[in-house]
Formats: sequence, C-alpha cells, structure tokens
Amino acid sequence: MRKTRVHHLAEMKQNGERWSMLTAYDYSTARIFEEAGIPVLLVGDSAANVVYGYDTTVPITVDELLPLVRGVVRGAPHALVVADLPFGTYEASAEQALATATRFMKEGLAHAVKLEGGERMTKQIAAITAAGIPVMAHVGFTPQSVNSLGGFRVQGRGDGADQLVADAIAVQEAGAFSVVMEMVPADIAGQVTRKLTIPTVGIGAGNECDAQVLVWQDMAGYTSGKTAKFVKRFGNVGDELRSAAAAYASEVRTGAFPAVEHSF
Ligand code: KIV
Ligand code: NA
Repeated sequence: MRKTRVHHLAEMKQNGERWSMLTAYDYSTARIFEEAGIPVLLVGDSAANVVYGYDTTVPITVDELLPLVRGVVRGAPHALVVADLPFGTYEASAEQALATATRFMKEGLAHAVKLEGGERMTKQIAAITAAGIPVMAHVGFTPQSVNSLGGFRVQGRGDGADQLVADAIAVQEAGAFSVVMEMVPADIAGQVTRKLTIPTVGIGAGNECDAQVLVWQDMAGYTSGKTAKFVKRFGNVGDELRSAAAAYASEVRTGAFPAVEHSF
C-alpha cells in the first residue's frame, strides 16, 4: 500500500478517479479504515459532537483535538491525515492560523490541516501553505458558523451560488490543495468541481464531486437518532455494539462468562 500524499489526490482528479475520506478520532478505527483502503482521514472538529458530546463544533479546543490526531496518525500510517482547526483558533489573523496549524503538524503529526471559510480565509490559507503545510478548505455550510448561518441550511442556492463559486476559486488561488463543499446543490457543486483544478470533497453536495466525506459514525450506523438527509448508513455498528455489550452483561450476570477456557 502506498502512502497517500497531496499530489496523489491531484493526479486522481486528472485521471477522473474518485476517492473517499472518512473522519477518524482514534487509533483503533483509523487502523480499520486504513485496512479498508480509505486514503484520507479527517480528524474533524465533529469530534466535538461524536467524541465529546457537545451540541455544536464551537466549543472544542486544540487541546481536545490534538491527542486524537496523534492516535489516528499512529493507526493509519498510509493515510493522509488532515486535522481540523477548531473555531476561534485561526480566524483572527494569518499569524494565528499559522501558529495553530503548526501545532497540529508538530504535536499532532498531521499531514495537512482544514479550515472553514472561502474568500474570508485566503490570507490564512496563503500563510499556512507558504509555511509548507497543505490546507484543505471548507465552503458552503460551515458548521462553526452555525449561529450566523441560521441553523443547518443548504448554502449556495439562488443568489448564493455566485458567492459559493467565488469562495471555491478563492481558496484554490490562495493555495488550498482541496476543498470540502458541504450542503450545496448538486448542480452547483458539479459546476465548481469542473471549474477547479484541485479536488472537491462533497458532503451533501451531490454526485459530481471528486471525492466524498462522511462522519464515520454516520456512515457506519453508530450514531443514534435522526441523521442528515445526505447521510447513507453502510452498516449497523451501533446495533452490533449494543447487543455485544448486552450479551456480555447478561453472561456476567448469569455466571456464564468467564468459562473454564477463559480462566487460568
Ligand atoms: O468535522 C468534520 O467532520 C467535517 C467533515 C464532515 C467535512 O468537517
Ligand atoms: Na469540521
């Protein structure tokens, strides 16, 4: 298995090969995703929701996310590991963004970072890439701005389409190696994908992006309750785990576990 690098993703776009990205937050799942052949793993700030149980991604800190990055990197030595920059750790200036990105590379051993925003983040993207750190941008619905976007809403509809296209072009020109498009109409995402030379990664952005990403718990059926329209469940990991835990508890209760073969 080759180690995935940024230039491989560019080549895959040239060759019309689609690739997949999944989130990962720990060593054990990163290992499984690597074995499954997922070339790019994102240590998303969605850890705020699925690891720490916050309602939004706003509260998660660098100190909460960094140790997760280290675990994922150790679990998936061939994957390109991208670390999300948390809300409030890069927006103020290019200097702040570079300092935070540098921590994720130096202390987290990430291979790239991701940040939210289009035109408004070009200074940050340029400064980070100039320092030798690959940047994945994220446009369309940007969850860290949920409070100003008026909730979980499709972006780039109607008049918003021009802004979305401008954002995608701006991040490419600033040096991003790839761009996530979240919750945008499929036809707009297709237009952007054809216009850009860098790969687009869709989540709720239709079928014409160069790549796709999902939060792994959504992908594997590990989240409880209602999931977004753009989620497809490819497994029932939550049910599996629940029934394993219940069977274990029951066998401990009855004394069936541990049996002779588990004993010394
Ligand atoms: O944090 C995250 O999981 C993300 C992806 C869903 C794109 O940003
Ligand atoms: Na994120």
